[in-house]
Amino acid sequence: MDKVKLAIVGCGTISVMNGPGYVKHERCEVAALCDPLRERAETRAKEWGITPKIYTKYEDVLNDPDVDAVELLTPTPLHAQQIVDGLEAGKHVSCQKPICNNLAELDAIAGAAARAETLFRVTENLLFFPPLMKAKELLDSGAVGDPSLLRIRVIRGRGTLGRAITIEPDSKTWRRDPKSNTGGYLFDGAWHMYAVAMAWLGVPEKVFGMLTATEDFWEELPSTVLWKFKDRECQAVFQFLLAQNMPMRNDYVASDEFYEIQGSDGLLWVTARNGFLDMPPLVLHRGAETKGIEAPADWREGFDGAASHFVDCILSGEQPVMDVRFARRVLETTLAVYRAAESGRAIDPRLS
Ligand SMILES: NC(=O)c1ccc[n+]([C@@H]2O[C@H](COP(=O)([O-])OP(=O)(O)OC[C@H]3O[C@@H](n4cnc5c(N)ncnc54)[C@H](O)[C@@H]3O)[C@@H](O)[C@H]2O)c1
Repeated sequence: MDKVKLAIVGCGTISVMNGPGYVKHERCEVAALCDPLRERAETRAKEWGITPKIYTKYEDVLNDPDVDAVELLTPTPLHAQQIVDGLEAGKHVSCQKPICNNLAELDAIAGAAARAETLFRVTENLLFFPPLMKAKELLDSGAVGDPSLLRIRVIRGRGTLGRAITIEPDSKTWRRDPKSNTGGYLFDGAWHMYAVAMAWLGVPEKVFGMLTATEDFWEELPSTVLWKFKDRECQAVFQFLLAQNMPMRNDYVASDEFYEIQGSDGLLWVTARNGFLDMPPLVLHRGAETKGIEAPADWREGFDGAASHFVDCILSGEQPVMDVRFARRVLETTLAVYRAAESGRAIDPRLS
């Protein structure tokens, strides 16, 4: 295969971040766009300066022999069936996080992926965000010694002073409907932070959560989650906070993410979507020395990297990052946090 012919399925809010990485990859052709709202697909084609086929039905994408691969950017409750159908139609499938709503759906996906001769992965942009990738490299090289604590803090603010992405109105509807979404922010958003924590330090053997339920099903802020990692003397604390009067100075989305790894010899700080801190994207403190490390830090970088990775893996036949097994660990943990919060007990995500 000289070029991967890809269809982007779902042209709503997050497609503005996901699409451009495929459009600019020289060995990828965005051959089709699909959305039941045709004008959304047409708008994206215009914005990206391409002339793909426009479909309003996913089945038409799957019946198109000119489409090798699909990137699913559809509402989460549609993921499981669309992944299974895509793999059964012989397409390579990439799907935005969260993989699906529950473990029964995940089992169906795992079965389809095992039977398929094509590739499957979950798109997790943060695993391709350069400052977080550099932090992993430093951690793995022993730059901070033995890690004892990972702290991840997310603050959702009032709005952004930079370029904001437009959130489609229906994006808010399905997210805030308990019949179509398993949880709120601690399901939909925390997935990213759990995925980074697992990529860095492995899976948790115990999780505990203190979650806030609000009138808005999705908001769930403030909430705190604690982990003990398996086979390591290392803990994690995740803080999800709301600062409703605090504008963020970043682009795209009004939230700030801060990552800290404390080790025996030093510590690392990383900012992703830096909303207010005047600091380089990565800071390493080791011994008595503190140094800032530069890395491309636009949030789009992670999406572009994720897109390139999927195309490159299709061309080389390698399994892309975040396969079904990794996605299962993240989903199990996400669900276990809710159960831990309900029961007031620490829970092993594998046994619950
Ligand atoms: N990586 C991230 O940071 C990030 C951010 C936002 C959303 N997401 C994930 O991306 C997915 C989409 O989220 P969103 O905010 O863009 O949602 P959205 O509601 O804005 O967009 C979804 C689009 O899918 C279309 N659609 C609905 N049914 C379809 C079908 N059967 N076939 C094709 N298209 C269909 C809708 O018309 C809409 O345009 C969700 O799983 C979400 O969790 C990830």
